[in-house]
Amino acid sequence: MFADRILSGMRPTGQLHLGHYHGVLKNWIRLQHEYPCLFFVADWHALTTHYDTPEVIEGSVWDMLVDWLAAGVDPSQATVFVQSKVPEHAELHLLLSMITPLGWLERVPTYKDQQQKLTEKDLSTYGFLGYPLLQSADILIYRATHVPVGEDQVPHIEFTREIARRFNHIYGKEHGFEEKALAAVKKLGSKKAKLYAELRSRFQEQGDVDALEAAKSLLEEQQNLSVGDTERLYGYLEGTGKMILSEPQAMLTAASRMPGLDGHKMSKSYGNTISLREDPKIVEKKIRTMPTDPARVRRTDPGDPEKCPVWQFHLVYSDEATCEWVQKGCRSAGIGCLECKQPVIDAVLKEQEPMRERAQLYLDDPGLLRNILADGCEKARKLAQDTMREVREAMGLDYS
Ligand code: TRP
Ligand code: SF4
Repeated sequence: MFADRILSGMRPTGQLHLGHYHGVLKNWIRLQHEYPCLFFVADWHALTTHYDTPEVIEGSVWDMLVDWLAAGVDPSQATVFVQSKVPEHAELHLLLSMITPLGWLERVPTYKDQQQKLTEKDLSTYGFLGYPLLQSADILIYRATHVPVGEDQVPHIEFTREIARRFNHIYGKEHGFEEKALAAVKKLGSKKAKLYAELRSRFQEQGDVDALEAAKSLLEEQQNLSVGDTERLYGYLEGTGKMILSEPQAMLTAASRMPGLDGHKMSKSYGNTISLREDPKIVEKKIRTMPTDPARVRRTDPGDPEKCPVWQFHLVYSDEATCEWVQKGCRSAGIGCLECKQPVIDAVLKEQEPMRERAQLYLDDPGLLRNILADGCEKARKLAQDTMREVREAMGLDYS
């Protein structure tokens, strides 16, 4: 409903690796030039599963921020902050919990999945059940329109949309809504007011969705309206009350083609990662010892790149000519595996060099990072506080 705004978060539960870079961070870095973006470290979310090892989280927060900046997240473009430094998230989470049916939370697929997967932990906690609602608060508090996430997170965004709808339905019915909405229509100016009214009745009477969209974009261009009036006009359009919280959309990130060293998904728990700022010597060693097509026992045995994890790396890192060289050389036993791995080693090292340099800047001067964070938290808090004022007012918590 409001202007485009992107928000995404990441849980600080360990070192970032190339899988995160190719799967998530590259996307963020592209988006930060196209939209206003907010990126945050979801430390409270990490606590829902790592409540008994807070030291893991504490240690990861700074590393993660350095990793983001090293990868190219630009604090002059995007707002970067830490969830727990914006306590308004917790307040919204609490207030939303009042209207959240337990059944909705129990039905979120990650709830049972994770409980089954992480059997070594007791996840039958209040906090873990509320995980998706905390995520909803993260998103709704900034009125984010788009949330870049992986496939597994889509149910959480759907859930968030339902919470926003329910909230607007229950609390959007302010006293004298109709009169206030009509007064707001007048403020559009006679020409636009007429167009708005026409589009609204086309939607309400004939279900014309294009008319609804047209009316929404008309409102989007409006700059002279107060937040309250904007909310009323959006709500009035759809026949509900005031639209206080806006429904976000998932922005699906294409699945990363970056596999782990063993060909399976790159993941810390599989021990098959190359971390973002891995020491070059270790990078070289890790790639040199990568498994290859098991059919190539001897140098003279031909192989099949399709059966080799190194080939997956070439697909990410190598140009067409190199890929062709691999295909031919492997199948004819014309090249050896170490020879084949060298361009990959070179490409990974080249990719990481600027990251290592940028990271060094922050490692040498931790104050720099602290300032960036303080700045980001302050910006985020301002936005969050604006929403909370509206939310408190709508819920009758505005006693001043
Ligand atoms: N649940 C997300 C994950 O595990 C992290 C997250 C927390 C998040 N809050 C968010 C992502 C808000 C997007 C928006 O990946
Ligand atoms: Fe894999 Fe390359 Fe060896 Fe073929 S030559 S098995 S693609 S490492």
